[in-house]
Amino acid sequence: MKKLILIAALLASPLFAQVKDKVEVPYVPFPVKMGKGFEAVQANCLMCHSFGYIINQGRQSRKFWRGKVDKMIVHFKAPIDEKSAKIVTDYLFEHYGNGKKQ
Ligand code: HEC
Repeated sequence: MKKLILIAALLASPLFAQVKDKVEVPYVPFPVKMGKGFEAVQANCLMCHSFGYIINQGRQSRKFWRGKVDKMIVHFKAPIDEKSAKIVTDYLFEHYGNGKKQ
């Protein structure tokens, strides 16, 4: 019985762990840029994940963005038609592009 109480106490102890320092959660703003084509991103990309997945890639080339859109279609079976894929790629390259085609 004593053993059982000890085990129970040990298992429960992390629940009472306390941190003395004040924990600050950093505020990370997601600069979602509105503009032509944003609706297509909303309709075709945000059903599976947040915008964070997209903008965490940083500024990239048109080829990179097209590659990501294709990856979503091929590997994750995203139901995106060619017309929308083009609109999304244009949007991503315009707002999160590095100016390079390749
Ligand atoms: C069917 C679901 C689905 C849709 C729709 C989707 N994605 Fe994803 N996407 C995923 C999954 C799952 C991951 C996470 C892969 C991982 O964790 O490695 C991901 C990850 C990503 C990443 C992170 C980098 C990488 O290579 O994994 C980017 C960028 C991205 N998606 C862009 C897009 C864009 C742009 C669209 C719209 C055209 C889109 N996604 C639509 C499922 C989807």
